[in-house]
Amino acid sequence: MIKLHDKYFKPFISSAQIDEAIDKLVVEIANDLGDEIPVFVGILNGSFMFTSDFVKKYPKPCEVTFIKLASYEGVKSSDDIQRLIGLTQDLTDRTVVILEDIIDTGKTLVEVHRIFENEKVKSLKIATLFYKPEAYKKDFKLHYVGIEIPNKFIVGYGLDYDNLGRDLPEIYQIKETQHMTNLVLFGPPGAGKGTQAEFLKEKYNLVHISTGDVFRFNIKNETALGMLAKSYIDKGELVPDQVTIDMLNAEVEKNAGANGFIFDGFPRTDAQAKSLDGLMDTKDSAISAMIALEVDDEVLVKRLLERGKTSGRPDDANESIIRNRIKEYYNKTAILKDFYSAQNKYHGVDGVGSIDEITERLSAVIDTL
Ligand code: IMP
Ligand code: MG
Repeated sequence: MIKLHDKYFKPFISSAQIDEAIDKLVVEIANDLGDEIPVFVGILNGSFMFTSDFVKKYPKPCEVTFIKLASYEGVKSSDDIQRLIGLTQDLTDRTVVILEDIIDTGKTLVEVHRIFENEKVKSLKIATLFYKPEAYKKDFKLHYVGIEIPNKFIVGYGLDYDNLGRDLPEIYQIKETQHMTNLVLFGPPGAGKGTQAEFLKEKYNLVHISTGDVFRFNIKNETALGMLAKSYIDKGELVPDQVTIDMLNAEVEKNAGANGFIFDGFPRTDAQAKSLDGLMDTKDSAISAMIALEVDDEVLVKRLLERGKTSGRPDDANESIIRNRIKEYYNKTAILKDFYSAQNKYHGVDGVGSIDEITERLSAVIDTL
């Protein structure tokens, strides 16, 4: 991921893919033009790299020139196309191929055609490396198209975002979700995970997604996914990961404007962690960190026995049950600790101290993300 000015961009089209697309264009155009000596007209600034790489690959003699137009402001195509440098040579009876880096709305093409209106060229062909069919609003024929792309802003390989990014050798696509803080929160029973989740949620304006709550909500409201989950539970079977992921997806969708999410109770396995990465990826986002509250076993046992005196929870009253639950927690989270450590995303936080102290330690980690 890269940041240009205020926006984040993710890798989208590699140098190798660009190279392949240019090879294809070169072959098509060279075949069509035969032994004509064409004049390739690059549209500055964006197409300087494309024009350069294209003519280097072109197998026969050719001429190269440029015109300079400007239309974009920030990430939006503007109506006002300025002609900064027009044609500087006579193109009468020449075969002209326009080399555009990208065709978006097609407004620039209108200006290109206007420039050639009074030129008595033999033929005028349009070639573009990238093309956004969903954005194109004109009906000029595009004779040669390298790669069709979705209607999202890209940078690199000559294309800029407010003058930055032209120098990048590959293409990056804008991230629609700008920087979310997504946490996977862990803690052994008695570590105070619930309490801390409440504080973090407030402090960072995050949405707390507890898988247990999501299940209960869906089942209680008899949503399609809830009923599906229940059908497995009733048979005594595990709910398939995809059903859980679909429920989490619905929660994420419901809170599309959130600064981020705290996932609690999910993932539990390697496969689930991968699915969660997949889900975040579809949202143009990622898990920022796994944060695990670390509390010594003896402290947990003491805390839970203390809680058992008043909570009435039978599993809080018996020391061997408590020790078992703690052991099970470590067995289960070890895999996830490895998974997130491998991505440098694991953060253990000392969970012994006052609530405020622990919140502060958690904040110190989150503030670095
Ligand atoms: P059009 O006039 O809307 O077709 O836009 C064409 C011009 O806008 C291109 O030559 C680029 O300079 C610029 N442009 C269009 N889409 C993008 C983009 O995704 N990234 C950067 N520049 C773009
Ligand atoms: Mg351009």
